Amino acid sequence: MYSGKVVIVTGGTDGIGKALVELLITKGALVATCGRKTEKLEQLQKEISNQNLLALSCDVSDEISAKKFIEEVVHHFGKIDILINNAGISMRSLFSDVSLDTMKQVMNVNFWGAVHCTKYALDSIIENKGTIAAISSIAGHRGLPGRSGYSASKFALNGWMEALRTELLDTGVNVLWISPGFTQSNVRKAALTKNSEVQGQSPLNESKLMTADECGKLILSAIEKRKRNAVFTFQGKETVFMNKFFPSLTDRLTRKFFIKNGKLIK
Ligand SMILES: NC(=O)c1ccc[n+]([C@@H]2O[C@H](COP(=O)([O-])OP(=O)(O)OC[C@H]3O[C@@H](n4cnc5c(N)ncnc54)[C@H](OP(=O)(O)O)[C@@H]3O)[C@@H](O)[C@H]2O)c1
Repeated sequence: MYSGKVVIVTGGTDGIGKALVELLITKGALVATCGRKTEKLEQLQKEISNQNLLALSCDVSDEISAKKFIEEVVHHFGKIDILINNAGISMRSLFSDVSLDTMKQVMNVNFWGAVHCTKYALDSIIENKGTIAAISSIAGHRGLPGRSGYSASKFALNGWMEALRTELLDTGVNVLWISPGFTQSNVRKAALTKNSEVQGQSPLNESKLMTADECGKLILSAIEKRKRNAVFTFQGKETVFMNKFFPSLTDRLTRKFFIKNGKLIK
């Protein structure tokens, strides 16, 4: 299914995005990816060393940068079949402490970044009856304490994707949003603190989480099956189920998981 297809994966230099890039190259896709840090892009090019990979510097939260990135991909590969809006950042701070700058940065990358890339890729995707995917989160189904800006950005992403899916129903384009559970990646280390600084460490035991490769395989399978949405990991599915049917109990359980004595523990 992916062989010869032009696939954009935003944020492909780390974690889930990197796993997606590696899997897609193996499947014979023509892959374009981006990130903000040039060293990481050069490292990726070196590691993969395949002419089917185009790795460009772009900050998806910046409309001009995102537009330029999409235009360069179309210029290089001639079209876009699949866009995977994956680039994302997280945060870790109670709302009472957090700077509004942290909240805005998270929204600008996770929500506006996807909007920017989709806006400029849309015509080509419609022409090719392709796919628009967004990597959301369990935090987009259930508000998570200490990550209120992250949850807000993923709820916004899901609502916007659902509306877009409905608008595009008769075009042959599939629109889906995918919600991984905890997955091994750099996302927790790169998360912003209350003062918009990089957290630099993960509060979880990363080795116990789903691997990025496993997550990438499930994402590609959901795209291939033209699913509407997908939720990964047992814990993730359990949280979404519990929140739907027992929301007040889930408030308490979620608080217990993330907060102890009024302080964030995860
Ligand atoms: N890992 C999890 O547990 C988990 C769970 C649920 C959902 N997710 C979602 O999965 C997606 C991927 O996350 P991940 O866990 O793989 O994170 P990650 O390891 O931190 O990777 C994030 C990638 O996005 C890029 N990026 C960040 N900000 C960007 C920007 N403004 N413009 C362009 N690229 C940007 C990063 O490169 P640069 O830093 O160089 O820009 C990096 O390549 C995110 O949307 C995240 O919310 C992750």
